[in-house]
Amino acid sequence: MKRLEGRAALVTGAARGIGREIAFLFASEGAAVAVADLSAAESVAAAAEIASATGSRTIGLELDVSKEASCDGAVGEAKKAFGGLDILVNNAGITKDNLVLRMKETDFDAVMSVNLKGAFLMSKAAAKLMLKARFGRIINISSVVGQSGQAGQANYSASKAGLIGLTKSLAREFAPRQVLVNAVAPGFIRTRMTEGLKDEAKAKISEMIPLGRMGEPGEVAKAALFLAGGDSEYITGQVLAVNGGLYM
Ligand SMILES: NC(=O)c1ccc[n+]([C@@H]2O[C@H](COP(=O)([O-])OP(=O)(O)OC[C@H]3O[C@@H](n4cnc5c(N)ncnc54)[C@H](O)[C@@H]3O)[C@@H](O)[C@H]2O)c1
Repeated sequence: MKRLEGRAALVTGAARGIGREIAFLFASEGAAVAVADLSAAESVAAAAEIASATGSRTIGLELDVSKEASCDGAVGEAKKAFGGLDILVNNAGITKDNLVLRMKETDFDAVMSVNLKGAFLMSKAAAKLMLKARFGRIINISSVVGQSGQAGQANYSASKAGLIGLTKSLAREFAPRQVLVNAVAPGFIRTRMTEGLKDEAKAKISEMIPLGRMGEPGEVAKAALFLAGGDSEYITGQVLAVNGGLYM
């Protein structure tokens, strides 16, 4: 028996990277999956590839999580296609790194707007369906730097720490209706977000990680699957670290 048979999921920022792995794994486990990302063409292409590899139903949606109308529209499309929405993964995220004294106000606002406000808007839209259905799973992709802080990432780490506060507040509000809300906090994962790092920096990072290497997107996806599936039904408001022991 597949672990997400009969469930409908929407993953934001799912055209590539960690989001795509999550969408792929959920579809492999039988879920119908909405792949939602900034580019409609890339979302549709990723959705088609996932459908043909897994045999599950998918749709590709254009979504900008920083815009309320876009979030409401994407959730509406998923409901229309799948008849409801059981699982939401708030994965879309951006970085605009700089030291604080050089960080522009617009760079601070842009990161907050996608990483933190985006999760709020999507959760609000999805919760309307989940609370009514008295079932739901919301998974927020935070980051180790939201827990530890990081020089050069004041905006990003603040947004990811904020996401943990949002997770806990939503968990408390939604628990009476069996809507569980948890966060996954990945460490350094090999995706486009980290591929810009120099080899030297990557080697230094790996030295700091007790497990001695960066993580793979699929390793984050497995944690999201655990929180989305039936094995986590007494878990809400938690932060699951997937960081090779980097931060404990
Ligand atoms: N890669 C890492 O080491 C790492 C570590 C910790 C946390 N994370 C988090 O994991 C998530 C995925 O990261 P990734 O490494 O796969 O990054 P990525 O850059 O490869 O993918 C991010 C995706 O989000 C999409 N996106 C950006 N802005 C959006 C918006 N406004 N609306 C909808 N989609 C938008 C992008 O188009 C892209 O497809 C992010 O939230 C990131 O902060 C990544």
